[in-house]
Amino acid sequence: MKKILVTGGAGFIGSNFIRYILGEHPEYQVINIDKLTYAGNLENLREVEENPRYVFVRGDILDEELISELLNGKHPATNNQLPNTIINFAAESHVDRSIADPSSFVETNVHGTQVLLDGARKAWKGNNNLFVQVSTDEVYGSLGSTGYFTEDTPLAPNSPYSASKAGGDLMVKAYWETYKLPCIITRCSNNYGHYQFPEKLIPLMITNVIEGKPLPVYGDGQNVRDWIHVEDHCRGIDLILSKGNAGEVYNIGGNNEWKNIDIVRLITGKMEDILGLKKGSLASLIKFVKDRPGHDRRYAIDSSKIIKDLDWKPLYSFEKGIEETIRWYLSSKEWWEGIKRGEYMQYYERNYLKR
Ligand code: NAD
Ligand code: TYD
Repeated sequence: MKKILVTGGAGFIGSNFIRYILGEHPEYQVINIDKLTYAGNLENLREVEENPRYVFVRGDILDEELISELLNGKHPATNNQLPNTIINFAAESHVDRSIADPSSFVETNVHGTQVLLDGARKAWKGNNNLFVQVSTDEVYGSLGSTGYFTEDTPLAPNSPYSASKAGGDLMVKAYWETYKLPCIITRCSNNYGHYQFPEKLIPLMITNVIEGKPLPVYGDGQNVRDWIHVEDHCRGIDLILSKGNAGEVYNIGGNNEWKNIDIVRLITGKMEDILGLKKGSLASLIKFVKDRPGHDRRYAIDSSKIIKDLDWKPLYSFEKGIEETIRWYLSSKEWWEGIKRGEYMQYYERNYLKR
């Protein structure tokens, strides 16, 4: 039986993961601790909030006392049962925000990870425990036009975001090497799907089309990302929980490389079809804007280790996934319109209108 402490479960991937894992494993229990920053939203979890195997605690992963209470069964949310697994999704996650202000990235992504590791080190005495650090391919830095990131690629992060994630990963490695705390690190490529905060490329473009706003493409639009559906990522983490080996790193990628400009054209083309608009009519919304400083050119993941060792593979075709995602944003306007009215407006102004 797994009792999982999920951190950052009110964000994009964490909320998809909680829905997924509760559905897949009728015996698993989940405690979700989330600070509810601008990116956290309990609306993402409406479907599971009444589930007796799920409980939400509002809190910060930097709060040592709270983490200790949760891991030692002293918090009411634990119902006196000790969580035997931690999955750390909690992070500041957006590169552009990290460029504007790196400090909260170091706090949460490095120090927050260390607080969780230390709580686990002190609380876990027996077997059957696992700490999963949900990391990113961005820690490997930038590729040229060929080659792939493997688990042995040296860490070479370029943005404050990726540097802070690399710092968290190194702390995890240190707790494994020094204290033999059973830890696994996952490094996944760019996710897309339901409930992604509309500051990230795909939901930003879809929602801007719906609002008739410009589609800001950084630089020459030739930067490449490897896109994976969030559910394929969640299935990978699930397999790692049951079959992964402590001390290992697993890359998870979509084997699905796209130049940014091609993604934006794919989205406008699909939306013209779905909305019954004239072919090419949305192209005039595309605007090339000043590049992101330190913009990584290309990410591409070699997933052969998780494919071979854990029998994982991505199940979503991009064609199907992107169409479903567009339709979800079209039918979930209330969700993202609420977000775009709040703090987001100031962020948008800072990042785009003064660009
Ligand atoms: P997100 O920004 O949508 O969600 C992050 C969540 O963490 C939010 O709910 C937020 O409230 C919470 N949080 C932030 N600081 C916290 C703190 N101090 N204490 C408790 N909760 C806190 O991010 P996401 O896209 O869902 O990413 C989740 C994880 O996956 C991150 O660690 C990210 O680095 C990693 N990742 C993301 C992608 C991607 O494409 N989005 C790809 C690979 C890895
Ligand atoms: P993003 O979704 O922010 O993910 P990451 O930077 O973590 O890969 O951006 C994906 C790519 O899209 C990246 O190369 C930057 C680019 N991009 C734009 O061109 N315009 C935008 O408005 C945004 C948000 C991103």
